[in-house]
Amino acid sequence: MNADQILPLIFGRLTLEALPLHEPILVVTMIVVALGGVALLGALTYFKLWGYLWKEWFTTVDHKKIGIMYMILGLIMFVRGFADAIMMRLQQAMAFGGSEGYLNAHHYDQVFTAHGVIMIFFVAMPLVTGIMNYVVPLQIGARDVSFPFLNNFSFWMTTAGAIIVMASLFVGEFARTGWLAYPPLSGIGYSPGVGVDYYIWALQIAGVGTTLSGINLIATIVKMRAPGMGMMKMPVFTWTSLCT
Ligand code: HEM
Repeated sequence: MNADQILPLIFGRLTLEALPLHEPILVVTMIVVALGGVALLGALTYFKLWGYLWKEWFTTVDHKKIGIMYMILGLIMFVRGFADAIMMRLQQAMAFGGSEGYLNAHHYDQVFTAHGVIMIFFVAMPLVTGIMNYVVPLQIGARDVSFPFLNNFSFWMTTAGAIIVMASLFVGEFARTGWLAYPPLSGIGYSPGVGVDYYIWALQIAGVGTTLSGINLIATIVKMRAPGMGMMKMPVFTWTSLCT
């Protein structure tokens, strides 16, 4: 076997062609993100913050801190979703009178799909899960959620899903199906690229996190209420969280 036969076995459809070097918008974004990333990592190293972040935040089992991390994740992803929104409105403003605008149709479809997926699954859900994590144990007089370690694990699963969506910006492409990804459009016939693969993996992995979070909150509300806090005395936000 030569290299041409072995590489696809290892990397599948991941080839150098997957880097969108022919798209100027993506190349500029890639450079800005890389420079910003290097600056951020450099600042964390310079100010010796890695140990603090690792011990006090990344590996924390404190429901309040995990709640705050969810909300920060939601806000960071809102910046991405907002950038997509601006791109869409700009395209709509520019594409008239026979002009195609600055995005081709396939690129526009990726942008609005990413916008919908990010705003719902990686902005709205982390913000809501973050508030629930922070508030529910305090409202029912519990010291923490039922399964604090699982709570941290759920957060990182959600984050992993968000990272996968972000990675699709620089390697391959994202789905062009709209955020609900209905078949047959999302099937292999009409979406032969890797976009739907990114969509599926991001949502499944983040979905494990949110499902475990849901189980954790139900167990907390049902089993961890302080003495005297009957179900009918629970604040309405805790009821909302239970139903959700
Ligand atoms: C910040 C200001 C926002 C602007 C300017 C904006 C703009 C847009 C535009 C122009 C579309 C239509 C795309 C198309 O079908 O061609 C769209 C779709 C959508 N937006 Fe927003 N949006 C914003 C915020 C949000 C927020 C906060 C959420 C949810 C939390 C959201 C969720 C969605 C969803 C789910 C779709 C449908 C995507 C799809 O059809 O796959 N958007 N948005």
